[in-house]
Amino acid sequence: MSSLLQPHANDCEPNNSSKILPTISEFHTAFDVEAIKSIETGEADQEGGVFLTWEDLWVTVSNGKNGRKPILEGVKGYAKPGQLLAIMGPSGCGKSTLLDALAGRLSSKIKQTGKILINGHKQALAYGTSAYVTEDDTILTTLTVGEAVYYSAQLQLPDSMSKSEKKERADFTIREMGLQDAIDTRIGGCGSKGISGGQKRRVSICIEILTRPKLLFLDEPTSGLDSAASYYVMSRISSLNQKDGIQRTIIASIHQPSNEVFQLFHNLCLLSSGKTVYFGPVSAANKNFCLQFFSSNGFPCPSLQNPSDHFVKTVNKDFVQDPEKGLAGGLSAEEPIYILAKLYDSSEINHQVEKEIAQIIQRDSISMLNGSHAKFYTQCLILTRRSFMNMYREVGYYWLRLLIYGALALSLGTMFFDIGSSSESIQARGSLLVFVVTFLTFITVGGFPSFVEDMKVFERERLNGHYGVTAFVIGNTLSAVPFLLLTSLIPGALVYYLVGLHQGHEQFLYFTSVLFISVLLVEGLMMIVTSMVPNFLMGIIFGSGILGVMMLDGGFYRLPSDIPKPFWRYPLHYISFHKYAYQGLFKNEFQGLKFTSNQLGGPANFSGEEILRHLWQVDINYSKWLDLAILAGMAIVYRILFLVIIKSFEKIKPIVSAISCPQPNFRFTKVTRSNEIE
Ligand SMILES: Nc1ncnc2c1ncn2[C@@H]1O[C@H](COP(=O)(O)OP(=O)(O)O)[C@@H](O)[C@H]1O
Ligand SMILES: [Mg+2]
Repeated sequence: MSSLLQPHANDCEPNNSSKILPTISEFHTAFDVEAIKSIETGEADQEGGVFLTWEDLWVTVSNGKNGRKPILEGVKGYAKPGQLLAIMGPSGCGKSTLLDALAGRLSSKIKQTGKILINGHKQALAYGTSAYVTEDDTILTTLTVGEAVYYSAQLQLPDSMSKSEKKERADFTIREMGLQDAIDTRIGGCGSKGISGGQKRRVSICIEILTRPKLLFLDEPTSGLDSAASYYVMSRISSLNQKDGIQRTIIASIHQPSNEVFQLFHNLCLLSSGKTVYFGPVSAANKNFCLQFFSSNGFPCPSLQNPSDHFVKTVNKDFVQDPEKGLAGGLSAEEPIYILAKLYDSSEINHQVEKEIAQIIQRDSISMLNGSHAKFYTQCLILTRRSFMNMYREVGYYWLRLLIYGALALSLGTMFFDIGSSSESIQARGSLLVFVVTFLTFITVGGFPSFVEDMKVFERERLNGHYGVTAFVIGNTLSAVPFLLLTSLIPGALVYYLVGLHQGHEQFLYFTSVLFISVLLVEGLMMIVTSMVPNFLMGIIFGSGILGVMMLDGGFYRLPSDIPKPFWRYPLHYISFHKYAYQGLFKNEFQGLKFTSNQLGGPANFSGEEILRHLWQVDINYSKWLDLAILAGMAIVYRILFLVIIKSFEKIKPIVSAISCPQPNFRFTKVTRSNEIE
């Protein structure tokens, strides 16, 4: 491990700082230790709450050939029930990383060492005990505010609560976040105007506090809010405890709190470049400890300046200070950080924090009970309804595709109109069938962006333990069925009857069934691609590539006997769903038909079976229904594969992290996932 990972990072000497700064012993006496102690909330009130402590927490990322770069450097702290801990610091200082680490959500590429304890023990947070409001708002954009919160309430709240109680809880939470006027407004997103960014933030918070979790992580809850809204949102969050009587532990990262918001914090963790510049109480008995810490160390807050602005400005190293106006006598931008971090390390307040952590760890362990949530069946039902609503309202999901299919079906219908039964129609029928199934499935890639948005929402909700991957797959599949039926029936009928393909209800039913199952199958394949690529652009490229290869290997562009045996025939030809779709449709079309020949000298008639065997090299020893069954089986397998990939990724991730970070006190990577619903 690189030298950057040495446990003590604060060995940097403050350059010539001794001239301008008070000595450490002076600083010790500057603090009113008793006052610090006096602000702790009563122990009795905190019973049943979540105590979170972290010590010597290092988080590093790979820095290419230069080893590893630390994002957090041995930070420590605690969060207690009934208190609001604010994590402050300039942008890029590691606020979100600290929250992610505490919530057990760091990605597997990031290494974490240190001790994070819940109620003094290494344990996973049970379902319903914690919620995390992330920095970016991933909510279904087609829903209204009311719908988003209400669906979420039905998904998360236990079945023991009645529908009206759930509705009541959702309405109460909406009112709490001041969203009652926007309740019927669509959330909106890229391309469609909806609620404002600040309102979206509040909807995200609403959704996460519905279950009244005991531990709440909020990443930049006030970004995008004006100062009044910031204050109301923060004060409502901090006053939730009094309203529902739950001693809640709240940890929020915040970068620019107003004076009023700052007063709401119980504890402050001020970070800069991953180092703790200050961790401790904010104020008590009219004493602002943090302000005192800064001024007693040579960085007094100018009068009429917001103290939090002053703290963040002092510890911001990203912008070079104007030498004329430089802080504390013209120090470079980085010096105040090292000076303050060093002084904090040896300060009395730091010792108090260490004592506090030790006390919390020694407390009797309180095992956390799993919160109850909606039953699996309810979750599937609600997810199907919500997903249907989203697909119905999102034009790009299916409606646009249906329009294109319709236009194309008309084009094909008029181009191949009344195809007849001459020998020329044989080639035309073959090309038409292949085009229809290939194009119909290929354009499924066009639904990728909408599906990726769905997946983002799923990822957020799954991480917060709202429901599991099985419920998502079932909901997504069932809600898509009516649309897929429409997209295969309407254009299918147009093509079938305009062209005059093999007449008969059974043949038409088979034709549309192949189209329907093929699209369902490709959607499953796209789900797998989405779970493996980071963005939709790459998804479209990968998805198109896979479909392109399968299409090529389906046995039409190169006849089955001509396909090179290694790789292309075995196994790819048999894996490609196009093989079964083409063969099934060919059998459906040609079996039972007779074609007349115009050529002199040759046979006067051909049977469909002869064409299948000799021209298309179709295996007619088994029924077309078996081809359809194989397609249906593949559609199911792809969805199960998606489920397995997500689940095994979850299982493998902690193992990979544990292997790459073999520290004895390493905790776990996923907090809320330990309680997978299914
Ligand atoms: N996965 C990652 N790979 C590389 N660098 C990262 C990664 N995640 C975060 N960082 C870096 O860590 C620093 C802190 O990031 P973050 O915690 O998001 O900051 P904040 O929330 O305080 O703005 C930033 O400089 C960021 O570039
Ligand atoms: Mg952040």
